[in-house]
Amino acid sequence: MRSTFFLAAIALFGSTTVNAGGFSSTCTECRLGSSNTRYGCLCGDGKGNEIYSLVDLNDCMVNLGGQLSPRKSGGFGGSCKADGQNDEYTPCWDCGNGSGTDKACPDLNSFISNHDGTISCDV
Ligand SMILES: *[C@@H]1O[C@H](CO)[C@@H](O)[C@H](O)[C@H]1NC(C)=O
Repeated sequence: MRSTFFLAAIALFGSTTVNAGGFSSTCTECRLGSSNTRYGCLCGDGKGNEIYSLVDLNDCMVNLGGQLSPRKSGGFGGSCKADGQNDEYTPCWDCGNGSGTDKACPDLNSFISNHDGTISCDV
């Protein structure tokens, strides 16, 4: 189920958009910092080097009723708290939904890309 969705997403984005997402195939040791929103990885630069870089996901995601969606300057960090599991490519947050919190584990690979060793958000 999950992998079927993933392949469908690749087919959808891969055919229409260049350089959108896909960082996970060339980046390792990715994790969220203690700031809750800063996410760093070691990424290949295409010339044999590994470079460490960070993105502030506050610039990339918005909390919509407890679920996280890609959005420029979304500022989700004010209403979401990392759950501490810190999965390498799919970290999760507990996000306020108005009455409680929902677990949100956005697919970062769909909108973070690696440009010559530096990660950025395509939003
Ligand atoms: C909000 O979170 C609470 C606690 O997890 C849950 O019971 C409730 O269904 C959620 N509300 C919405 C609108 O998602």
